[in-house]
Amino acid sequence: MNQENSKVIVSAPGKLLLFGEHAVVWGKPCIVTAVDKRIKIHIQKTNDEFIWIEAPEVKVNGYKKPLPDLHSKKSPKEVEFIEEAVKLFFKKYKVGGGLKIETQSQFSSQFGFGSSSAVTAATLLALAKLFNKEMSKQEMFDLGYDVVLKIQKVGSGFDLAAAIWGGTLYFITGGKKIEQLNLTDLPLVVGYTGIKADTATLINKVKNLHASYPRLVNTIFSEIEKLTVQGKKALYSKDWQEVGKLMNFNHGLLDTLGVSCLELSKLVYSARMGGAYGSKLSGAGGGDCMVALVTPSTKEIVKKEIERTGGTVIDVKTGAQGVRVE
Ligand code: MEV
Repeated sequence: MNQENSKVIVSAPGKLLLFGEHAVVWGKPCIVTAVDKRIKIHIQKTNDEFIWIEAPEVKVNGYKKPLPDLHSKKSPKEVEFIEEAVKLFFKKYKVGGGLKIETQSQFSSQFGFGSSSAVTAATLLALAKLFNKEMSKQEMFDLGYDVVLKIQKVGSGFDLAAAIWGGTLYFITGGKKIEQLNLTDLPLVVGYTGIKADTATLINKVKNLHASYPRLVNTIFSEIEKLTVQGKKALYSKDWQEVGKLMNFNHGLLDTLGVSCLELSKLVYSARMGGAYGSKLSGAGGGDCMVALVTPSTKEIVKKEIERTGGTVIDVKTGAQGVRVE
């Protein structure tokens, strides 16, 4: 493989959902914050006819795909977001050629931090820089959302928005509204259950429940919408007690939707016993992570309680910068 161009290095953040998961798939708002754990991508042009990918964190080593197969042959799961992003970028901007792509992640793809969306955003910005194309954040979101829907079939796009805009966002399904909330770092503790959840399976679980109990499930979505709007106000006024109570409400409603699980519930309740203002699952549920809102004096106790109940504490700062060239 001969390399001819200088390397472009781009990184994008992971995310945590504070309010509104699942309801956001059904036209409601959510509040998402980008976290300071990032995925880095190195891209350079090659003068051969392959897309080379190295992604050691998902055990992809020495992978190469001949360019003519890019549009016709299915990609392995570990590289499908990168390949689809390359494919749609080449198509939109009528460019092409061999590429060498390497990824490095500061977080495990098992956490539910939105690694697929982060890698999609990072790939698109890196390609835009490599091929000298102007791409606004909105254009990147639109193209990236096509990538996500092509692969996952379902999803609101909130995690992609967090990877692109960064900060903390009030987001409505499909990017109908993307509002940057001007908030400082939030006093959160994150606990990981150790279980990898499958977002599409959980979205379909809620869809089936909705098909059987439309009135009840719609009422739950509306209540989640109301508490998300209330949560936005409480976050702005730094009324942590109120934010915590709303997180508890949100967790209860998600539990009613059937997306919590024993491991999540244990961590959520242990955080409350440790003195957290409130706690909830964060993301699709069924495993992945939970978040707890803490005071400086309860932070360490909450962390210990989460670990005592079998969780792993992940230290994050919220409101991280969106996708950027390194
Ligand atoms: C998953 O992290 C959050 C969901 O609301 C899915 C989505 O919004 O794409 C369940």
